Amino acid sequence: MEQLSKDVVKVYVWELPVRIFHWINAGAIMLLILTGLYIGKPIVGSTTGEEAYYTFLMGWVRYIHFFAAFLFTANMIFRLYWVFKGNSFVTTNVLRLAFWKEIFQTVKFYLLMKNRKPHYTGHNPLAQLTYLVLMGGGSIVAMFTGFYLYFEPQPESFFGKLFAWVPFLFGGSFSVRSWHHLMAWVFIIFIVIHVYLSFREDWLEKNGTMSSIFTGFKTEKKDKVETHGGEIQPMAGAAQKDAEHE
Ligand code: HEM
Repeated sequence: MEQLSKDVVKVYVWELPVRIFHWINAGAIMLLILTGLYIGKPIVGSTTGEEAYYTFLMGWVRYIHFFAAFLFTANMIFRLYWVFKGNSFVTTNVLRLAFWKEIFQTVKFYLLMKNRKPHYTGHNPLAQLTYLVLMGGGSIVAMFTGFYLYFEPQPESFFGKLFAWVPFLFGGSFSVRSWHHLMAWVFIIFIVIHVYLSFREDWLEKNGTMSSIFTGFKTEKKDKVETHGGEIQPMAGAAQKDAEHE
């Protein structure tokens, strides 16, 4: 934690692996949405009157979708690993009662009601829950339904058998595709709100939210650096690690 002035400090919030994960995730999801929506509704086709395989447009779009899908999956597995390796800003403990109390306070804050919402250097608990349900849960649904569809033509293969349970959970092969498609819209809505809230936070808090996803650092008032369990701790996460190295 670097002291910028008497009251303001620079806090290392997003470690390099988290930032790399974020941008690979953003790129892969953009590719998956664009190619996925095209696969579902091919708005343009070959402009020539020849056989489809001369242009192979749908073929290329599917290749890109599957390449991005494997990249997305590998990146997600890495992120799961980083939950255990990373600093305190990369994880959420939903089993803490204080977590749910703080969600309640955060909801009251957004509804302009009287609240006791503490200050957060990382994500507030409502944001953490949203990431967990939409990014975590949404990705799991997108991956399982996607891998089922991918291996559906080879039901006797190892991976075909590995994902054979998916249609039983989602209600048949056609429903699997519908759920997979629905996830694209969940991600689209998430991205719009996520980008809006990031700029909003950057503008209102003036704490370098936008640049933090490139550099890892946020600027904070010294006495307000991160809160866990409702208490204000002077240092946490990577800031703590930085302090240990000093
Ligand atoms: C954020 C993640 C993803 C999004 C937004 C996404 C989106 C889509 C969409 C919208 C479709 C078209 C569905 C339709 O209407 O027929 C599709 C098809 C498909 N996706 Fe994904 N997808 C994602 C991840 C994955 C993953 C991880 C896999 C795993 C291999 C995958 C494999 C497939 C397959 C096999 C198809 C069907 C292709 C075809 O019928 O030719 N997707 N995807």
